[in-house]
Amino acid sequence: METNPNRTYRKSSDGQFPVIQMASGQIALLGRWNGLAEALFSLNENGSFCAQYNTDNTIVETYTLLHGEVEIEHVGERRKMGIGETIDASAFEKVVTFYALSNAEIVMKMDADFYEQLFFETKTLQVEMDAVAQVDGYTYHHCERIRQYAIEVWKRMDQPKDRLKLLRWGSYFHDIGKLAIPHEILNKPGKLTLDEWEIMMTHSSIGANIMRAHPVEWLKDAAFIVEQHHEKYDGTGYPYGLKGDEISIEAAIVAVVDAYDAMTTERAYKQAISIEEAISELKKGKGTQFHPDVVDHFIEMLGVKVTYV
Ligand SMILES: [Fe+2]
Repeated sequence: METNPNRTYRKSSDGQFPVIQMASGQIALLGRWNGLAEALFSLNENGSFCAQYNTDNTIVETYTLLHGEVEIEHVGERRKMGIGETIDASAFEKVVTFYALSNAEIVMKMDADFYEQLFFETKTLQVEMDAVAQVDGYTYHHCERIRQYAIEVWKRMDQPKDRLKLLRWGSYFHDIGKLAIPHEILNKPGKLTLDEWEIMMTHSSIGANIMRAHPVEWLKDAAFIVEQHHEKYDGTGYPYGLKGDEISIEAAIVAVVDAYDAMTTERAYKQAISIEEAISELKKGKGTQFHPDVVDHFIEMLGVKVTYV
């Protein structure tokens, strides 16, 4: 029963709090309290997320660990969070990441108007997130891994935290244009014909158009990442044949992590290769297919990082 007039709960008609499901866990929006939204992050073991919304340090953004084992990382330094400890995101200059070593629960508080808009916009994307995760028959975890890898490389390359949101969504939705490609082409066991290949190659432009037409503003802003994710460093990629630094660093990162994940994952038309073989392929493509710095940082990351969900 509601007793405090300052608090507004946002339960839906079925009596549940609105929830966003992700591979790493779920976020339930509990309500607002004196202008602050409260959400509960229920993280799965090995799940992770970044504090990323606070780009100018004017927005309240705190995380309190309720239970479970969680480590936080900032500029490469990791430490354990204490139960009951509250992290204020504005105290960190760079991206701060939370890693759950066991199932864990974290209460997040953030300026309500800001967070509720973000939450409900993200929730409207759930259908698209599920659709794109299944787009060519491989698992939900592909998109999530691409996103996680891309963010880790971004941090290692010391890129600004205020652009992380674009990378987060551009990487997740990099192949959204494949929703428009016929299933027979996407999952063809053999080699594609020239005509089929031309159809396949339209997915980056189609994806960018889908993003640009989307009502959620930050998806429009991330469209360039989708558009450029098959450009190659030497200018032989598509759709525009962009070269070197003409390709955004975000797209260059997605190109590397997507290639790695594709190589190490079994698909309808091919076997997976080993991590060592995939790394050697990335090295071969360094400076031709791939941005050299991105390859270096990604390989370095693989040497240190744990496997993602
Ligand atoms: Fe693609």
